[in-house]
Amino acid sequence: METAAGIHPVQRADLPALFVYLDDHLRDNGRDGTLLFQPMARAESGFPVDKRAGFVTGMTAPVGEPGWRRAWFALDEQGLICGHVDLRARPERAARHRCLLGMGVHRDHRRQGLGGRLLETALAWARTQGGIDWVDLEVIAGNLPARRLYQRSGFVVTGEMPDLFRIDGEQLGYVYMTHKI
Ligand SMILES: CC(C)(COP(=O)(O)OP(=O)(O)OC[C@H]1O[C@@H](n2cnc3c(N)ncnc32)[C@H](O)[C@@H]1OP(=O)(O)O)[C@@H](O)C(=O)NCCC(=O)NCCS
Repeated sequence: METAAGIHPVQRADLPALFVYLDDHLRDNGRDGTLLFQPMARAESGFPVDKRAGFVTGMTAPVGEPGWRRAWFALDEQGLICGHVDLRARPERAARHRCLLGMGVHRDHRRQGLGGRLLETALAWARTQGGIDWVDLEVIAGNLPARRLYQRSGFVVTGEMPDLFRIDGEQLGYVYMTHKI
């Protein structure tokens, strides 16, 4: 069943609510024995305060400039955030023709097509930009729901680093995927 949630670009005034949402979302990381979807220890999972400034400055930086970022969120019928996707500059100056994607869907809204719609929103925007030729992402190897979603949306695996992370006693690989614009 498709969800009716509307998807909107995140404006600067939306950032405080987005930070609260992201903090709650990241606290799900590996909770109650579920899979880790971020390379952070369970006890440290949350939205780091030092990442906030990057969102604020990145949203006003022109695309192609260091640190740029654009984000979209999905709002449910009550106006509550139920999913997000963002695109951001890669750290390498010579890779301005590429960007990195991050995303998540609220635990109560999964498996209703929202992840696919968020991805399509970000990819459609990237197609209008001219200077972005590739959208890249990184996903923990064991995160099969995310890997299936990305594959269905046209991302292909470019590599895998086994045992990149050791978190809470587990060895975790990282999978690199990309989508040609
Ligand atoms: C990964 C995530 C974003 C998927 O969002 P979603 O809204 O549930 O995705 P969709 O409903 O659009 O699913 C589209 C397809 O993805 C795959 N998929 C999604 N969830 C899945 C699951 N739990 N198991 C297997 N496949 C799954 C399926 O192919 C699915 O299509 P189908 O439902 O017709 O089988 C969501 O599970 C999530 O937020 N997880 C935690 C955060 C996270 O992993 N973020 C990505 C970090 S790289």
